[in-house]
Amino acid sequence: MNQPLRAAMSAVPELDDTQFLRWQSLLEERTGMCLASQRRSFLQTSLGLRMREVGCDSYEQYYERITAGPSGAIEWTTLVDRLTVQETRFFRDPDAFAFVEQYVQQKATELGADETLEFWSVGCSSGEEAYSLAMVGERFLTPAGKRYAVTGTDISTIVLRKARAGRYLPRALQWVPQAYAAIGFKPQQAGEPLQINDELRQRSCFSQVNILNLAACPLQSQHVIYCQNVLIYFRRWRRREILNVLAERLAPGGILVIGLGEMVDYQHPLLEQIHSSRVSAFVRKKTNSEGESARR
Ligand SMILES: C[S@@+](CC[C@H](N)C(=O)[O-])C[C@H]1O[C@@H](n2cnc3c(N)ncnc32)[C@H](O)[C@@H]1O
Repeated sequence: MNQPLRAAMSAVPELDDTQFLRWQSLLEERTGMCLASQRRSFLQTSLGLRMREVGCDSYEQYYERITAGPSGAIEWTTLVDRLTVQETRFFRDPDAFAFVEQYVQQKATELGADETLEFWSVGCSSGEEAYSLAMVGERFLTPAGKRYAVTGTDISTIVLRKARAGRYLPRALQWVPQAYAAIGFKPQQAGEPLQINDELRQRSCFSQVNILNLAACPLQSQHVIYCQNVLIYFRRWRRREILNVLAERLAPGGILVIGLGEMVDYQHPLLEQIHSSRVSAFVRKKTNSEGESARR
């Protein structure tokens, strides 16, 4: 920790049990994230730094401020960005992406000329996951003359801004498989930021959606719903509720991909589980009229 930061932190008041519970409940109620008690010092540091920036002396005063009216809502967008874990990278889970590639290659032969393959990255952070999906679409659908579109959603408007810019540090390239580097990025000089190719950016859009409020999100008939490393921060009953909504947003035959172990023993009447030790995914069953029995 550098000197000015250490000095700033020494002035942060202690977050006692009552205050911790109060902030923990607010965070869970508004984002679904359940902050474990071991993360008390993280909460104290994050709140303390923000309180200094906005000139609040006590947790009570800051709590009142953040829960009051429209100005509180604006302040909340900054705080939520500080409190959520936003770690991400391109092609973060290679096995899951191999599964998506397989599905997309299949769809490249099936999709009608007037259809668009829809990808949705739920909890997309700064966009690496959404653009990885776009790269898969660009690699397998565009040469086959088929269209695709990608939507990335997240609660944090700050990460969404980064996602829209589509600009990344050169070292992010280490996570991109060779087959995708030229598809995904504009040519760059050594040391320059990576810039996502225009074709991919034109097919990708990013929007603020709280996963607790999916009812207000109009996305339907998605072919690929990709939701990794978000549900792990939520309680089990909430994970189940969210997956139930996502299941309904899939197109028949569409796939839902979650993180390995993020929700074991999940079942839904619309979904068939993919049996794999490396990928946690589900396929939406087709109805009789779509060529397969819904009651398998
Ligand atoms: C660890 S990142 C995962 C990013 C990406 N999915 C991946 O696996 O690399 C978790 C993301 O979930 C978002 N998030 C947390 N709570 C959320 C909520 N209630 N609604 C939508 N997004 C949320 C965070 O803002 C963060 O960007």
